[in-house]
Amino acid sequence: MKKILTGIQSTGTPHLGNILSVIIPSLDLSNKYFSFIFIADLHSMTKIKNMEIIRHNTYQVAAAWLAFGLNTENSLFYRQSDVTEVTELAWYLSCFYPHKRLKLSHSFKENINHVKEKISVGLFTYPILMAADILLYNAEVIPVGKDQLQHIEITRDIAKRLNKKIGKKVFILPKAFIQKETESIPGIDGKKMSKSKKNWINIFSTDEILKKQIMRIHTDSKSLNDKKNPDNDGIITLYKLIAPINQVEVMKSKYLKGGYGYLDAKKTLYDCIIDKFSDERKKFFSLIKKKSLLDHILFLGAKKARKIAFERLNYIRKNLSFNTLLR
Ligand code: TRP
Repeated sequence: MKKILTGIQSTGTPHLGNILSVIIPSLDLSNKYFSFIFIADLHSMTKIKNMEIIRHNTYQVAAAWLAFGLNTENSLFYRQSDVTEVTELAWYLSCFYPHKRLKLSHSFKENINHVKEKISVGLFTYPILMAADILLYNAEVIPVGKDQLQHIEITRDIAKRLNKKIGKKVFILPKAFIQKETESIPGIDGKKMSKSKKNWINIFSTDEILKKQIMRIHTDSKSLNDKKNPDNDGIITLYKLIAPINQVEVMKSKYLKGGYGYLDAKKTLYDCIIDKFSDERKKFFSLIKKKSLLDHILFLGAKKARKIAFERLNYIRKNLSFNTLLR
C-alpha cells in the first residue's frame, strides 16, 4: 500500500484554507493509501516562541483532524515532537545539502523580507526538517497547498543526493498532491488564506465570530442594485468550494441581474458554511474540551510511529556506516 504523509503546523486553529486544501483531500486519499498525519509542532517553533501557545495550538490542530473524521485505527496520527527520530534524520540530511540552495527557499526568503526580528537557524533549515518528516517513512504522496511545492522539490533533491552518495535507493522520491480547485484558497482580502496574513475564515470559531469574518470579505463598491461580476469575486470563489454547483449558478445569475447585494451573498455563504460543517463543528467543540483524550490519542499514534521510525532510522544509520541502535 502506498503511503501518504502530511503535516499542519501548530500555529493556530486550522482555517478553511487548510481544511479544503489539506485536511479533506488527505482524508479522501486515506481510503486508498496508508496515511501518516502529524502535527508539525517543531516547525511552528520557527514562528512561535511561546511553548504554551504551541501546545494549545497542537490541540486545535488535533481536534480539527479528528472532527473531520480521521480514523486513527488505520492511519498514524502523531505529534512531530513525539517522534524524535525525525530530528536525527534532519541532521544527516542537512550535512548533505548545500546551504546556498536553502537560501533560495521561499520559507526563508519571504520571512527575511517580512519578519524584521531575528531569523533563527531553525527557520533557515525548515525545509530540511520537512524533508526528514517525509523521508523518515519513505512516504510517496504528499497532500499540500501549492505554497509547499518548493519544499517537496527540495525533499526530492535531498533524497536524490543521498541515494547517489550511498549508492543505493534508500529514499523514495515523494510527489506533491495538489488539487487544482483548492490549490490556492483566497482569504477575506483576496490574497491566499494564511495564518500569517490574518485573513482567514475559521469555521471553528463561534457563529458570531464566523459571521463577522465572512462579513469582512473584500468586495468592490457596487451597490445593491448594480449588476455585479461573478468572476473574480471573493465571495463566489469561496462559495464555489463548498456549495453545490446549481446553487453557485443561482448566485452567479443574481450577480448578473443586479438587485442582489454583497451582503445577501455573504449571508448565503455563511449559512452554507454553517450547514455544511455543522457536524464537524460540533465534534470539534466537544473534542477541544477533552485535552487528556487528545493527549492519549496522540500518545498512541506516536508509539506506533516511533516503532516504524526507529527501524527506518536504523536502516539509514547502517547505510551511513553508523552503528545500528537497540531499543
Ligand atoms: N510546511 C508545511 C506547511 O506549512 C507543514 C509541514 C511540515 C509538512 N512538515 C511537512 C507538510 C511534511 C507535508 C509534509 O504547510
